[in-house]
Amino acid sequence: MIRQISEILTLSGAAKKKGRHVQEADLEFLKNQALWIKNGKIQWLGPDRRIPKAATNSKEISAQGKTVLPGFVECHTHSVFAGSRAHEFEKICQGMSYSEISSQGGGILSTLHPTRQASFAELVTKTQKHVDLFSKQGVTTLEIKSGYGLNLKDEIKLLKVAGAMSGPRIVRTFLGAHAKPPEFENLEDYLEELENKYLAYIKKNKLADRVDIFFEKGFFNGAPAVKYLRAARKLGLDLVIHADQLSLSGGSEVAISLGALSADHLIQVREPEINKLANSEVTCVLLPAADLYLRCPYPPARKLIDAGARVALATDFNPGSSPTQDLALIGLLARLEMKMSLPEVISAYTVGAAHALNLATKVGSLEVGKYADFLITEKSWTDLFYSVGQMGPFEVYQQGQKLNDV
Ligand code: NIG
Ligand code: FE
Repeated sequence: MIRQISEILTLSGAAKKKGRHVQEADLEFLKNQALWIKNGKIQWLGPDRRIPKAATNSKEISAQGKTVLPGFVECHTHSVFAGSRAHEFEKICQGMSYSEISSQGGGILSTLHPTRQASFAELVTKTQKHVDLFSKQGVTTLEIKSGYGLNLKDEIKLLKVAGAMSGPRIVRTFLGAHAKPPEFENLEDYLEELENKYLAYIKKNKLADRVDIFFEKGFFNGAPAVKYLRAARKLGLDLVIHADQLSLSGGSEVAISLGALSADHLIQVREPEINKLANSEVTCVLLPAADLYLRCPYPPARKLIDAGARVALATDFNPGSSPTQDLALIGLLARLEMKMSLPEVISAYTVGAAHALNLATKVGSLEVGKYADFLITEKSWTDLFYSVGQMGPFEVYQQGQKLNDV
């Protein structure tokens, strides 16, 4: 039982609106509340003076003078990798583009070799550090993609590493269709192999519930990519798409037509795609740190939100296009560069991201029946997503269990 909560943001209004057209009032601020947790879920939430009789023997924690809010949902990361791409970042600073680096065999393939060489144990140690850094910043649900193994053995290794993490709830995504590995002559043959040999194995062994693809010119696109995604969907795997990041390659249209959970990046979308996205159930996952690092334009967040799209924000943490795990930086870029309001940012990092992971009935807002994933902070909600490098400190609870010591 969390008692005497000075202020709680339940986000129940934003959840009711499914993350669309979120206003400040949708954060649902309540004063002097108590939160009763049973079996990892929220059993009751209400005025501190009115706690139910059945709760009187519960262990009590005071949140006097403190703010309580839902745990953050980080819905797009490439957290399992080895090696560094710092040398390539210097080239980007000198004016080279991400596509040029990739076409010269760098980019994703630079990370492939050290990641294949790393042992399971090495990757577990490295990845757990990344996971802990997310958790410290208030992340209670974390998505992790594979995509730097690009052969069956190593992709399985990466998904198992993600499954071995402790701390936040982990959602795993299979991103075999990230880039063409050197063993294959052409992209179509590799996609065929993924479709025929990988998907069923991943489904059968419950290594991931979701399949992602880098839908982009020079990577995967057009009919072969759609065929692959259909095969994944047929097996009951959810779809997510890296869409319209470097060029308008049709990824968001495909996301809509195949009923993907999310379309991610969306830098290049214009009016027609914006309207279609807004009228669909696809969550628009915006990743502004990648845009900062690659010196790309930011996605049209304002237009998407005003048209009624549901937006989520995430770090896109990876060693190339977004070597940062800083949630505050993401929110700050959204506020400063994408003209999102603070309530929109908070909703995007909770309710919006919960939809992107198909977990909206369980996480993202503090309501009876949902998981007790929440944060306690001495700061006010207006201090969130403001100072780079300074999310928190938070006391982080996931399913009612404390994940950290502040
Ligand atoms: O989201 N766009 C494709 N994938 C990543 C980049 C991964 C990498 O460069 O290693 C992204 O930006
Ligand atoms: Fe990504």
